[in-house]
Amino acid sequence: MTDYDLIKSQLHALLDSEPDTLAAACNFVALLYNALDDVNWLGIYVLRESELVLGPFQGKPACIHIPLGTGVCGSAADSRQTQRVDDVHAFPGHIVCDADSQSELVVPLIVNGALIGVLDIDSPSLARFSETDQAGIEKICRAFCDLQSVRRGFI
Ligand code: SME
Repeated sequence: MTDYDLIKSQLHALLDSEPDTLAAACNFVALLYNALDDVNWLGIYVLRESELVLGPFQGKPACIHIPLGTGVCGSAADSRQTQRVDDVHAFPGHIVCDADSQSELVVPLIVNGALIGVLDIDSPSLARFSETDQAGIEKICRAFCDLQSVRRGFI
């Protein structure tokens, strides 16, 4: 079982004294990608005007522009609600970037009340993400966003 409290303390150890948001985001995704089993892609899509644009990530090259409201990422951004999708092929409008992806978790990133983007995690297994995973990853995203609230944004 993934120890989300341990990942959160590792995140603080890496980022607490780092003033550069882009560098912090790169280490945030690298930390989480390497801490999670059975994940083939993990990264940030940054909100830019009315679309999401590819940001720091780990995995194969991915689609760069996602309109708000489109796919799993665009739905999470539009609704500001985490999207936990057990089978991406059953999600209307799902955007295929890596054909290996079977399930997906997308968490909105909100800093000082404003949406700055989403964290997207893909797995090659169906139903990879449990409610416990969702809660743990949301907690880590909140910690990342809280750290950015006093810093210059990368958007
Ligand atoms: N599947 C996502 C697109 C991003 S990739 O998975 C990296 C979506 O439907 O929004």
